[in-house]
Amino acid sequence: MNDTTLPPGDRGLPLLGETLDFLKDQFHFVDARQARYGKVFRSNILFKDTALLVGAEGARVFNDESKVQRQGGMAPHIADFFGGTSLPLLDGAAHRQRKQQVMGAFGREALAQYLPVMESTVARYLARWSAAGESTLTGDLKDLALEVIARTMVGSDGGAEFAENVRDFKVMVKAFTALPIPVPGTAFAKAKAAQGRIFDRYRKVLAERQARPTGDGLSRMLAKPADDGARIAGEDALKELHHFNLAGYITFAHMAHGLVALAQDPALLARLRAEIDAQLGSKPLTVEALHAMPLLENVAKEMKRRAPFVAVSFGKAKSEFTVEGKTVPAGWMVMLCNYAGGNDPAIYAAPERFDPDRFAEGRAEDLKHPTGFFPQGVGEPLKGHKCAGFDFSTLLMKTFIVLLARDYETKLPAQDLSYQWEMIPPEYAGGLRAVLTKR
Ligand code: HEM
Repeated sequence: MNDTTLPPGDRGLPLLGETLDFLKDQFHFVDARQARYGKVFRSNILFKDTALLVGAEGARVFNDESKVQRQGGMAPHIADFFGGTSLPLLDGAAHRQRKQQVMGAFGREALAQYLPVMESTVARYLARWSAAGESTLTGDLKDLALEVIARTMVGSDGGAEFAENVRDFKVMVKAFTALPIPVPGTAFAKAKAAQGRIFDRYRKVLAERQARPTGDGLSRMLAKPADDGARIAGEDALKELHHFNLAGYITFAHMAHGLVALAQDPALLARLRAEIDAQLGSKPLTVEALHAMPLLENVAKEMKRRAPFVAVSFGKAKSEFTVEGKTVPAGWMVMLCNYAGGNDPAIYAAPERFDPDRFAEGRAEDLKHPTGFFPQGVGEPLKGHKCAGFDFSTLLMKTFIVLLARDYETKLPAQDLSYQWEMIPPEYAGGLRAVLTKR
């Protein structure tokens, strides 16, 4: 291969490469290099040559299994935090088999059963904020996301065990941007201990569900045979559950972003309220009613595009491939830049604007390219790595937005609404203070 076709970029310091810059702020790490080098650039991160891909073409290649594999794509300590051999790290037949089993937790009937749980949980948090006068929402939104996952996936009652899990979970996520130093007292060592406690609690639930299945996500996953008839092993189900928590947690960032966007755009809020009044009125939510609201659908899409969530997904070049005129050698790490992709001006006009109508019929900016919209991967969940929780997360975001818009007025006191980009997902600097009053 000709050296000039390698992606441009900087390998950084000897040994450490650009690891520290990357860990400090993954979002600006990507933005700054994209501005300098274009949509495909190289780096050296966590001791590996790495190609970073921005944009729709990058998303297409990243999801071509002949070019990019998932096994070996994450630094071992990150893979471990994801539960070891869980879906994002599997390839080929092993991946398909596991995905068929896991999707047992996200079928149509399952989602319809989860919806009232989402509705009552969201309604309780909204009522609590409204009763409190002014509230600082970021921490509560994290608890809300985790509680919805816990109630639906393991039938939690939201009691003491749940609170312990949340405490441990928050210790764990802090270590995602820390160096992997397994010495007592480090963020990394604390995270490993917290993860062990989370798995121990899940093992108890697993034994109960194996003895007496319920309608929760864990029971559904255990009951679902893959096409070859195989059922998921208990320990593998625990790893997937653990990943559900990590993945579901990030919806806090989408709910926060949606709340701010609606509070700042009274005209959009009025249109949304009119749609909700016409489709639903004051009745309980149904999956059908939520699907029948096109503006709501576009608001949810725009929340997924615009809320900063994760900067990158991880893979490894299975074979040499060329993308945007640059050749990535086999064996290199490959990162797809999910957030930057949603802000690509080649696909999205004025990408910094919260503008749900960009997805409406006629404009449909996301359809300019077959893989132009990929906050949760591309394709179909059962055929590749597309997010297993795609519909689940849409349902939760829609539930949140409908109850908030229909039942409350939201005021944002003067505060710092800039993002703390060093966090994953980034959080509003001021913690997101809001005053909710019942309509
Ligand atoms: C809006 C919130 C969410 C976002 C932005 C998101 C994003 C993603 C992304 C970027 C991927 C990787 C896609 C790829 O590798 O091509 C993924 C995969 C996955 N997500 Fe989500 N996710 C969200 C919510 C959820 C929820 C709520 C769950 C489960 C309860 C979930 C479960 C999964 C699983 C199991 C995978 C692995 C799929 C596979 O590798 O086959 N996600 N998600």
